[in-house]
Amino acid sequence: TGHFTYDQGYGSTASTKSAITYIDGDKGVLLYRGYPIEQLAEHSSFLEVAYLLLNGELPKKAEFDSFSNEITHHTMMHESQKEFFKGFHHDAHPMAMLAASVASMSAFYHDKINVEDPADRRLAAIRLIAKMPTLAAGCFRYSIDWPFRYPRNNLEYVDRFLHMMFEVPSEPLQLSPVAAKALDLLFILHADHEQNASTSTVRLVGSTGANPYASIAAGITALWGPAHGGANEAVLKMLNEIGTPDKVESAVLRAKDKNDSFRLMGFGHRVYKNFDPRAKIIREMTHKVLNELGVNDPLLEVAVKLEEAALKDDYFVERKLYPNVDFYSGIIYKALGIPTEMFTVMFAIARTAGWIAHWIEQHETPGSRIGRPRQIYVGSDVRDYIPGAKR
Ligand code: CMC
Repeated sequence: TGHFTYDQGYGSTASTKSAITYIDGDKGVLLYRGYPIEQLAEHSSFLEVAYLLLNGELPKKAEFDSFSNEITHHTMMHESQKEFFKGFHHDAHPMAMLAASVASMSAFYHDKINVEDPADRRLAAIRLIAKMPTLAAGCFRYSIDWPFRYPRNNLEYVDRFLHMMFEVPSEPLQLSPVAAKALDLLFILHADHEQNASTSTVRLVGSTGANPYASIAAGITALWGPAHGGANEAVLKMLNEIGTPDKVESAVLRAKDKNDSFRLMGFGHRVYKNFDPRAKIIREMTHKVLNELGVNDPLLEVAVKLEEAALKDDYFVERKLYPNVDFYSGIIYKALGIPTEMFTVMFAIARTAGWIAHWIEQHETPGSRIGRPRQIYVGSDVRDYIPGAKR
């Protein structure tokens, strides 16, 4: 008992005011700073979207050039950060390495951060957006025993990342513009999503005054779970397990069975009860990218079949369960040569823009106070301690 409102999973509690992202879950609307996601997906780039999320306005050309230059200036990881990677077992999950690497940035830059100072906050944002691809590529290359590549600062953000991932010494990487464009688009779609679990985590940690790297590292760990960003990895594992279109029906049956914990990964969303606008964009793109890259992935057929079967099934219709952003993203990542375990890392690179925009907004808002939820206590009444011998 207690005099608090009980709102399990915060389904109806607004934990903050925010001017960054707007979602209308019934209508399937997603706006970054007022701009529809469809328009940003078609015309913008991830780096421009990052600027928009951070600053509230789209940049003029000179503003964008200066932002892009600043990002480029900060792309290298600290040389001794590489030593951190060596401490991991060779088959460590890349999300574990990424969370640890970002947390370790707190150790490298801690003294220089005053969270009360707007210039320091901005520098932390630039550092995080700039270094995340470098750390992510480090996680990947360490996991396959390849030497790290330094960022090539003559390239754009996404191209630079793909080079750090796949370039081999003295062999120029033949980078498909289709691949770079597809990845850039996925980054735009994943850049922010208001108060989801990981962003709320960043804000909760941020509300204690913790430094930004520690706050973002906490966001990364929250993202990892299969109910959140880990869904993209879980979707691909699920599609692999289903294997062929003729097994789709039995997967749907299992997902409906309340005695079976199996859920259709990439289906359902806390907020979207009509459709996920990001899923619509990704579905179209998946077919296009696979065609243009000349990839014929039988898992796409399984995914299409699964979506069809679920969408005409009463269980999913009644509960308003639709494919979400992660249902098709893994098939694209796979076509780009990115291994399944790296999928959530891709999500983390993109969401860093949103996380840090929220962290900054929080610190810019006067009167912000520590996040401190209450509880409904359901434990024992007061009772007396009984010595061990008498229990
Ligand atoms: N498969 C089967 N049944 C489902 C699913 C699913 N994917 N999602 C929800 N349900 C059922 C659930 O069992 C419940 O049924 P009942 O009312 O009979 O008990 C009902 O639908 C409502 O579900 P809920 O768990 O109360 O909904 P929620 O808002 O708490 O959870 C969710 C939202 C996204 C965690 C959930 O739909 C889910 O687990 N989906 C699969 C994981 C996934 O794709 N996550 C990615 C989300 S989008 C990207 C991101 O946030 O990172």
